[in-house]
Amino acid sequence: MFIKPDSDLDLQLRQTVLFLNHFDDLSFLESFQMSGTSTGKKAVLTLNEQQIELPIYSGTLGPNVIDVKDILANDHFTFDPGFMATAACESKITFIDGDKGVLLHRGYPIAQLAGESDYLEVCYLLLNGELPTAEQKAEFVALVTNHTMVHDQLRKFFDGFRRDAHPMAVMCGVVGALSAFYHDALDVNNVDHRNITAIRLVAKIPTIAAMCYKYSVGQPFMYPRNDLDYAENFLYMMFAVPADVDYKVNPILAKAMDRIFTLHADHEQNASTSTVRMAGSTGANPYACIAAGIAALWGPAHGGANEAVLEMLDEIGTVENVPAFMEKVKTKEVKLMGFGHRVYKNFDPRAKVMKETCDEVLAALGISDPQLELAMKLEEIALNDPYFVDRKLYPNVDFYSGIILKAIGIPTSMFTVIFALARTVGWISHWLEMHSTAYKIGRPRQLYTGSVQRDFTPVDKR
Ligand code: ACO
Repeated sequence: MFIKPDSDLDLQLRQTVLFLNHFDDLSFLESFQMSGTSTGKKAVLTLNEQQIELPIYSGTLGPNVIDVKDILANDHFTFDPGFMATAACESKITFIDGDKGVLLHRGYPIAQLAGESDYLEVCYLLLNGELPTAEQKAEFVALVTNHTMVHDQLRKFFDGFRRDAHPMAVMCGVVGALSAFYHDALDVNNVDHRNITAIRLVAKIPTIAAMCYKYSVGQPFMYPRNDLDYAENFLYMMFAVPADVDYKVNPILAKAMDRIFTLHADHEQNASTSTVRMAGSTGANPYACIAAGIAALWGPAHGGANEAVLEMLDEIGTVENVPAFMEKVKTKEVKLMGFGHRVYKNFDPRAKVMKETCDEVLAALGISDPQLELAMKLEEIALNDPYFVDRKLYPNVDFYSGIILKAIGIPTSMFTVIFALARTVGWISHWLEMHSTAYKIGRPRQLYTGSVQRDFTPVDKR
């Protein structure tokens, strides 16, 4: 371990290492063992009249995979744009069976975790591989709670952004800037350093997310409070102001917020997680890798969909306009945002829980939201229309999340920031897993379709 002795940050790091050394269950410090097993079967590929035998491996659940590395020796690559049929790694964290609508974290169904657990327990599970005992959970919660403050200098980064900057732009920049605070003394090959990074990220990300919001509305940043739980603290940092010393977080909203965090915690090798793994595979600074994940999440085809759903509902306006909008979807002028998924070709199990949460929150708050009615009408039509049925397009996690976030009082521009906050634990769990096993730098190949080699002509002779 290299920890330079003289800076405040190094001191902070050493104190955290000492703290972690007192933390009983650090099994996420241990190496992850690769466990894909050979089925003994081979896929046979005939190439240039030569037969190549490709080994087939099985995991604990899900389809087998064909190891195509031997094709390389025959001067061929596989071609799979969008990674439709390609597994790029082994992982023990999350399993999805898209055809059956199954999502398991470390083997536990998402509906059970969302209904009976809470976000920090799910974080522990994702990072550690097992559910904590009551004592382990209390220690983990205390560890996270004690790391929620950010370096005071970080606030200065916010001043560099325009007030009207999209909060995801600010989030991406500020999380990337954490790498400037934790770089020289951070060794990605050191297991303690990696685990401190995971704790720091889970602890500090709500503080940064709330700062992004406060900056955009011109209110002072609120410091985290150790007497509040994770979701309460986030809502406090979002909505409290120094002038209102009696501000209380509504427990119904805190519970809903915690459930939204839980439902977004991880989703195996999605675009943003794969981005974090790809960036991490070069040995890059983990905070910069998480910023890369935030960038990938931002797009409307991924985490930006929750924001796009509400924009779409605004645009449709009323239930009478739904049939005309659906015609535009079917002629491919627009997409039905919050519908469809690369992996789920059945109901997204998170969407079911999200819809129940949506109903609970609106009922508890006594809100009747016309956008919910609109969303339900869209869903009803889509689930019975051959365009959607034939393509197996169902509501995904983000179809209803925006309506809950709106009821909580979160502005639309913050929706994807909240997704990024919740997904940070998934990203860092995958980053930890990757660094705990043998891995190769991520480096896809291409089917080159550009010019053949030709001679350069100087500009005055062209
Ligand atoms: N509305 C209308 N048509 C759709 C939709 C949609 N939301 N989603 C897919 N389709 C159509 C496609 O046009 C395509 O039709 P075709 O066979 O006639 O060409 C067919 O369904 C298959 O869709 P693909 O785009 O090939 O599926 P892919 O797996 O590449 O994309 C994606 C998945 C990106 C999620 C897509 O469904 C989509 O853009 N959905 C809307 C955005 C969204 O909600 N994203 C959030 C995903 S969940 C998450 O990341 C948190």
